[in-house]
This record gives sequence, structure tokens and C-alpha cells, in this order.
Amino acid sequence: MEIESGEPKRPCSRTRPMSDENVMIEVCELPPVDSEGDALIDGLAELLVDAVDSGASVSFAGALDRGVAQEWWRRTLATFGDRDVLLVARDSEGIQGTVHVRGCWQSNQRFRGEVMKLLVHRRARRRGLGNALMDAIEEQARLKGLTLLVLDTNAQSEADRLYIRRGWVRLGEIPGYSLRYDGQPWPAAFFYKHLT
Ligand SMILES: CC(C)(COP(=O)(O)OP(=O)(O)OC[C@H]1O[C@@H](n2cnc3c(N)ncnc32)[C@H](O)[C@@H]1OP(=O)(O)O)[C@@H](O)C(=O)NCCC(=O)NCCS
Repeated sequence: MEIESGEPKRPCSRTRPMSDENVMIEVCELPPVDSEGDALIDGLAELLVDAVDSGASVSFAGALDRGVAQEWWRRTLATFGDRDVLLVARDSEGIQGTVHVRGCWQSNQRFRGEVMKLLVHRRARRRGLGNALMDAIEEQARLKGLTLLVLDTNAQSEADRLYIRRGWVRLGEIPGYSLRYDGQPWPAAFFYKHLT
């Protein structure tokens, strides 16, 4: 799987080849237009539903209706500003993964961004795509002038391991922060990373 930059309206990182498939990581121009926009929302909604079905704690408890997921993405993308970046990884089958960063609105924290909704479809996991998306979003954040990134995730999850492996600083956990897929209160881990 070769991961390379998409349409170079804004440059995106080229990362190491990992197998023989082709996956492109693209910076999405927002707001998306017409049918292109519908396809993007559909693909992102499918990813979110797949993540919830896989037991991930990504804002939604219980089975996630596809229409609710589409509406969530529609509303979220509608509020994107010029310091926010959405990345989408695609192959010939469609969208395989996504992640976004949002620049903080506070005028005394314009250098800080929050990384959100790192999602890789189950059919594409454990091949390095999550890591490649993080490489790319950190690079895009730098291009936006962000020098401090923060995020949180379910403790003891694959994402928790991934951020530690990437050198993010794990501040600690808040117990019972959200409900896990089985309804059990579960801790969240909080991270930050200074970009150099
Ligand atoms: C977290 C998530 C994005 C990781 O995506 P991914 O593409 O599987 O990530 P990677 O492939 O980079 O790494 C995952 C694992 O695969 C391993 N891996 C990477 N490339 C590999 C390869 N070529 N062969 C075998 N294993 C490989 C990594 O070492 C890592 O192992 P570990 O979890 O045992 O430490 C994905 O599991 C996901 O979407 N989860 C649900 C949503 C979620 O929780 N998101 C986080 C919100 S904050």
C-alpha cells in the first residue's frame, strides 16, 4: 500500500510504502460541493458507523444509525474554518480512513489544535494507515501554524497505543469519562504533542 499525497492544493506528506495497494491521503477542500459532497459525507458516515460497530468509543453509544452519522458529519464540516483540516484516505473501494484537526478559536491559543476522529475502516486496519494519517495531520497542522496539539481517546485502546508509539505525551487518565460499547464507564487518556 503506497500512501502518497493527494491533489497538491495544500501539500500533504508522502509516507513510506507498506504493501502493494495504492492509498491516497488527501486534504479535503471544504465545504464540499454537490454530489462530491454527498459522496464524501456518505463515506465518512460509513467509517463512523463501522468504528462504532467495532466497539470504538467515538462520541456515540449503542448502534449508530447511518442517517445520524451523515447528519453529524454534515453539521461538523459546515463549521470548519480556515484553520481546520480534514484528511481522507481513499483506495479504489472508497474511503478507508480519516482524521481532522481543528485550530482553537481562543485568541490566546491560536497555536493550539485538537486532533479528532482518527478512524480507519476495519477492512484496512493494522497496515499502518492510522499511523500514516497521524503523520499527515501533524504535517498539515504545522502548515497551519499550529505548534501544540491535544487529543483524548479511550484508555487501553489501539488508539491509546498508537499515540504513545508516536511519541505523544500521555498526561494520564480520567476515570469513567465515557461509556464503552458495553455501557460500562471507561477512562479516557489525554495526550499532547509539541510540533517542532
Ligand atoms: C485506532 C485506529 C485508527 C488505528 O488504525 P490502524 O490503521 O489499524 O493503525 P496502524 O495500522 O497504524 O496501527 C495499529 C496496529 O497495527 C500494527 N501494524 C501496523 N502496520 C502493520 C503491518 N504492516 N503488519 C502488521 N501489523 C501492523 C501496529 O504496530 C499497531 O499494533 P498495536 O495496536 O498492537 O500496537 C483504528 O483501530 C480505529 O479506527 N479504531 C476505531 C476508532 C478509534 O478508536 N479511533 C480513535 C479515536 S481518538
